[in-house]
Amino acid sequence: MSSVTFRELLKNFDPYPYRDFREDILKGKYKKHGKYSYIGPDSEKYDVRNSLNNLSGRQWTHFLSSVEVTAYPVSGPESYAHELRKKHPSPKPPQLMKRIIEFFTKEGQWVLDPFMGVGGTLLGASLSRRNAFGVDISEEYISIYKEVTKKLRLKEQLTLVEDARNLPDVLGDIGEFFDLILTDPPYFNMQSRPKTGEKAKKAGRKYSTPFTEDKRDLGNLENYSKFLYELRRIIGSLVPYLKKGRYLVMFIKDMQPTEEDTYLIHADIVRELSKVPKLEFKGYKIWFDKTQNLYPYGYPFEYVGNIFHQYILIFRKRGKREDPFRRYFSGND
Ligand SMILES: C[S@@+](CC[C@H](N)C(=O)[O-])C[C@H]1O[C@@H](n2cnc3c(N)ncnc32)[C@H](O)[C@@H]1O
Repeated sequence: MSSVTFRELLKNFDPYPYRDFREDILKGKYKKHGKYSYIGPDSEKYDVRNSLNNLSGRQWTHFLSSVEVTAYPVSGPESYAHELRKKHPSPKPPQLMKRIIEFFTKEGQWVLDPFMGVGGTLLGASLSRRNAFGVDISEEYISIYKEVTKKLRLKEQLTLVEDARNLPDVLGDIGEFFDLILTDPPYFNMQSRPKTGEKAKKAGRKYSTPFTEDKRDLGNLENYSKFLYELRRIIGSLVPYLKKGRYLVMFIKDMQPTEEDTYLIHADIVRELSKVPKLEFKGYKIWFDKTQNLYPYGYPFEYVGNIFHQYILIFRKRGKREDPFRRYFSGND
């Protein structure tokens, strides 16, 4: 049982206010262009029926590519304090998380990350003026996140050191509160395996770097079926806290196949999470970080690929999304 509830945490939090581009349409700041279409002050075209995000049609379409190729810097101001975040074995770039958050939410909405690490999601939320609640089993990672927010002078979001399995106790009767669940769980026991190639180079060592020594860490489970089952149980317990018609987005990387399993982790997770009531799989994006180097694994004996890409799996909670603006634009939808 957790010692603190989410409601208690919320009492001392000053959230970013909700902002919807349609408020400005009602104030006459956009020019009518078609039945549902308006031209904004930035000369972009917006659709009044858009209850998901604050993007123009062009920006929306840009996100639909199934591949995201990035090359974010790991030093200087654009690295978002990577020198601190790299104490974690696999921090996510805040800019990429911001881009995802901006597609799936509007300003001032709420994002949940049950495996926050050093806070890629939470930093992305602050950069895009969204509110976030992050949980990790490791106190050390959460303190690094807090140090990063101070260094970057970014808003510190709500965090809690807790096992994600206990989140229903923490969230209690808050109900369908979150507008997006964006998370990056352990990829089975990938981190607990000895390192090779790029990972060994980045870590400066070849031995394994599990996220934590904690037995409750999903990355320390020995059995793959148990890992899939536990992840499904955790996600299943969080879907009741996600609003209808809203999304759950999860990063996953496959592992090298072995004689025991093909380890197409992304495909196994899609199958598992499709068993969660009300959750439907909507597709994926592939993320390719171009800054990785190629290693001659297996040479000159056999094929061992360099797994450079990660999957960004996209699920939606069934049901109609609420839209406070629907009544202003009658005849829409
Ligand atoms: C892939 S990392 C997340 C990295 C994060 N996206 C970032 O930008 O730093 C997965 C995280 O899950 C945490 N974790 C593992 N098992 C957990 C559990 N049962 N409850 C909460 N956190 C857990 C680990 O400590 C690790 O930081």
